[in-house]
Amino acid sequence: MPRLVVIEGEDAAPEAVRPTVALLDRLGLDLEWVRPPIEDYDATRRAIDESATTLFGATSGPSTRALFHLRWGKQTYANVRPTRWLPGFRSPLARPQGIDLVIVRENLEDLYVGVEGDLERLRPAELASPMLRRPIADAGPGRFALKVITAAGAERVVRFAFELARRRRVSGRPAKVTCATKHNMLPQSDGLFRSIAADVATGYPDVAFETFIVDDFARRLVADPHALDVVVMPNLYGDILSDAAAGLIGGLGLAPSGCYGDGYAYFESVHGTAPDIAGRNIINPTATILSAAMMLEYLGFMDAARRLDAAVARVYAAGRYLTPDQGGDATSTAFCDAVAREL
Ligand code: IPM
Ligand code: MN
Repeated sequence: MPRLVVIEGEDAAPEAVRPTVALLDRLGLDLEWVRPPIEDYDATRRAIDESATTLFGATSGPSTRALFHLRWGKQTYANVRPTRWLPGFRSPLARPQGIDLVIVRENLEDLYVGVEGDLERLRPAELASPMLRRPIADAGPGRFALKVITAAGAERVVRFAFELARRRRVSGRPAKVTCATKHNMLPQSDGLFRSIAADVATGYPDVAFETFIVDDFARRLVADPHALDVVVMPNLYGDILSDAAAGLIGGLGLAPSGCYGDGYAYFESVHGTAPDIAGRNIINPTATILSAAMMLEYLGFMDAARRLDAAVARVYAAGRYLTPDQGGDATSTAFCDAVAREL
């Protein structure tokens, strides 16, 4: 019996996580849920370390330390964020039919290494800015943030993206990896990410490969999302553009995600905690439910994952029990009840 940690998160997130867990309990899978006390970080970390996986709501406070353990502690380097339009999703596009792309976001490096500080701290390094034409410390007072791309970090996430593209071909996808970086302005850091992607690509002659400068990619994402299959990006671009991608199909309420490492994975929606609607029972649980389906797949419960996905798809196709973000007036509970009836 796999042991699963649940961290509901803050604000409105628990209103999406609780009914999702209830749905999973209806699948007859014999799952053991563990709910560590979030205010006790050591207990939470231990629970995570002893679990098969974690379902995570969203954080705006107390759960953040647990999230950091799930990412950096468990080395979940590949953040997989699918953007797939289903009939009934309230997309702002005229032709959302067929959008089915996945952003694979590097999850541990880039500007997320957490090294920021006063510019003065850089003085001993005697770093000169070729743009400002003086020592960077002399540009202050001010702050810096460090962007780090390692060869190993880039390689493993790119490899993950190619393997994913190969697996998706089975379901009729074109098997293509698109890499988006700002290598024109950042030839050292983003240039490394891109050249490693190109190197890895030579080992996958059966998978198409293309690279774009990230700002041009942003336009392509909006103008021609149908042309995309698997997209791999450094951390911050992936963070920003996965929210944009969710916007294409109808919003953050519809966007699931999973973070995978070599020995662990955890699952969370792309959205935040939606504090503005906390306590109103109107948060859209779809992102959390679809994340839970990705979790079931990770655990090897393929049929259950498909059942859950299919139930959600039927509720949208019928369109009777949709939450306000999708133009309906159903509560989160009513939506989940409808999904339960379709299981
Ligand atoms: C996300 C979130 C997080 C991130 C925040 C909560 C740190 O925006 O999962 O996309 O930036 O990675
Ligand atoms: Mn984000």
